[in-house]
Amino acid sequence: VPQDRIRNFCIIAHVDHGKSTLADRLLEFTGTVDKRDMQAQLLDQMDIERERGITIKMAAVRMAYTAKDGLEYELNLIDTPGHVDFTYEVSRSLNACEGALLVVDAAQGVEAQTLANANLAMNANLEIIPVINKIDLPAADPDRVAEEIESVLAIDATEAIPCSAKEGIGIEEILEAVVQKVPPPAGDPTKPLRALVFDSHYDGYLGVVAYVRIVDGTLKAGDKVHFIATGKEFPVSEVGTFAPRMRPAELLRAGGTGYFHAAIKSVTDARVGDTITVAGREGKAVEALPGYRPAKPMVFCGLYPHDSSDFPNLREALSKMQLNDAALSFEAESSAAMGFGFRCGFLGLLHMEIVQERLEREFNLALLATAPSVIYHVYKTDGTMEVIDNPANWPTTTTIERTEEPYVDATIIVPTDYVGAVMEMGRERRGIQDRMEYPAPGRVMLYYKLPLAEIIMDFFDQLKSRTKGYASFDYELSDYSPSPLVKVDVQVNADPVDALSFIVHRDKAFPRGKMLVEKLKEILPRQMFEIKLQAAIGGKIIAAERVSALRKNVIAKCYGGDISRKRKLLEKQKEGKKRMKQFGNVEIPQEAFMSVLKLG
Ligand code: GTP
Repeated sequence: VPQDRIRNFCIIAHVDHGKSTLADRLLEFTGTVDKRDMQAQLLDQMDIERERGITIKMAAVRMAYTAKDGLEYELNLIDTPGHVDFTYEVSRSLNACEGALLVVDAAQGVEAQTLANANLAMNANLEIIPVINKIDLPAADPDRVAEEIESVLAIDATEAIPCSAKEGIGIEEILEAVVQKVPPPAGDPTKPLRALVFDSHYDGYLGVVAYVRIVDGTLKAGDKVHFIATGKEFPVSEVGTFAPRMRPAELLRAGGTGYFHAAIKSVTDARVGDTITVAGREGKAVEALPGYRPAKPMVFCGLYPHDSSDFPNLREALSKMQLNDAALSFEAESSAAMGFGFRCGFLGLLHMEIVQERLEREFNLALLATAPSVIYHVYKTDGTMEVIDNPANWPTTTTIERTEEPYVDATIIVPTDYVGAVMEMGRERRGIQDRMEYPAPGRVMLYYKLPLAEIIMDFFDQLKSRTKGYASFDYELSDYSPSPLVKVDVQVNADPVDALSFIVHRDKAFPRGKMLVEKLKEILPRQMFEIKLQAAIGGKIIAAERVSALRKNVIAKCYGGDISRKRKLLEKQKEGKKRMKQFGNVEIPQEAFMSVLKLG
């Protein structure tokens, strides 16, 4: 089709507002996939995504649609991840589009990620088409939601499309609106190639498959492409489109989207957000598209194999995952308590959980994870600055002049009844309230500056439980701010367990140290001897507890008893041991490492 009949668009929404369901309906309606073959939520290709109900990796699908004007259009639907950890990927995919369907749940209204995504879309100058989904629900109130869209997002909602993705209502209206309202791509096919890599995946046979939006020029097999940011060059083996599976094509041209592969060995060579051009043309009037930055890990934790002989397997598994995930970083580390493992960096908590889950599930590894940490800046008396992502590397107190920690700008949307609860949490978490707005009757929008470290400490779960699930939350990194930080060491029978130590604001060191040893007292299995637990700052004990010695062992309880009951008990014990790490003669269960996080 000619360029003026191409439409590139995406769907943006708050989690669970129905983005994937709507995408499925669009694919069905345009006959891109057969209804019978329709695997629910085809765009979410990874198992874990489907299970967790969140979209992580983007996909791009080409649909052919004959509009009411009788003409055939090429509609490229670019899927976006819906979670705060992946904001950077969202903005990349938005840059590959000219329009966005903004899906809002008719019963829920505008939520924090609706706002965040709508802002990204406006910044990318996209034509935004509001869609009010789930109108089939008894609690649906499309008029109120339309008002919210206008007052909160300042988007004209008079032409918002009522829809039920579930029941297939409003689907044709949406496709017509895409054709009529989303502008066709600009771009000149006769100019030298310029294309945006907006996503990629790793294929065991093909290497990296890069998803591109062609801005100018054309791309075909045999072309040698040049990545502007990394400087790497590769001869293209194949180009094509997703329909929805990969389908080879002769040529990709200005305005269109598709994929290419070129025997690229690692996603780090084909960075998302980079611009490609043809080799030999770089520097010759070919300008990189704006906004490239490599995805940077923000949250770090130690991952240790439960069985130390699994260390090489863990290394291999991490390397394999990195092929597909340029935002994952890892480097070997050793811990006195935990043995050999890896310090791993992630975009955020969700990313961290997903990686852990995949390592365990797909690579069959039993892992122990230490509590996550952010990156601190430590300015030392000798004038140097150290970047610390691991409490184990915290410098000696006497060498520290001042410290800084990362902050985020957070938005929380909540019903009026829960404002008190949110503000209390904001105070507890060292938040600085910026301002407060009333976007719609009964709803409040709060803006906070919060330390990232407080967010990775169970913030979201706490917020949900204190607002009975009504609060929605989104955040964006802002910058580093001065903060008096100290390292709290944890000692078990007078030996420091490095993997349990944590960095905390000075004012919170005492309560958190106390809570941690109390928690550990509950969690640590009793032994035949007494266990002493202590929290200390720079050698000074701030809290202590004792786990008294065990008097009888479990089997002694059922002496002479039923043998199968005994076996069951023993097996239970064995099971309980699985996720523990022997430290000296004390076993520390996984739960202990995570308990640091639950001290909020
Ligand atoms: P993320 O991938 O997590 O961002 O979620 P999503 O926005 O893709 O939402 P998804 O399509 O997975 O839908 C979330 C839930 O809402 C699912 O249980 C859907 O079945 C349901 N749902 C989606 N559309 C409708 C609708 O029109 N009506 C009703 N009643 N339920 C819907």
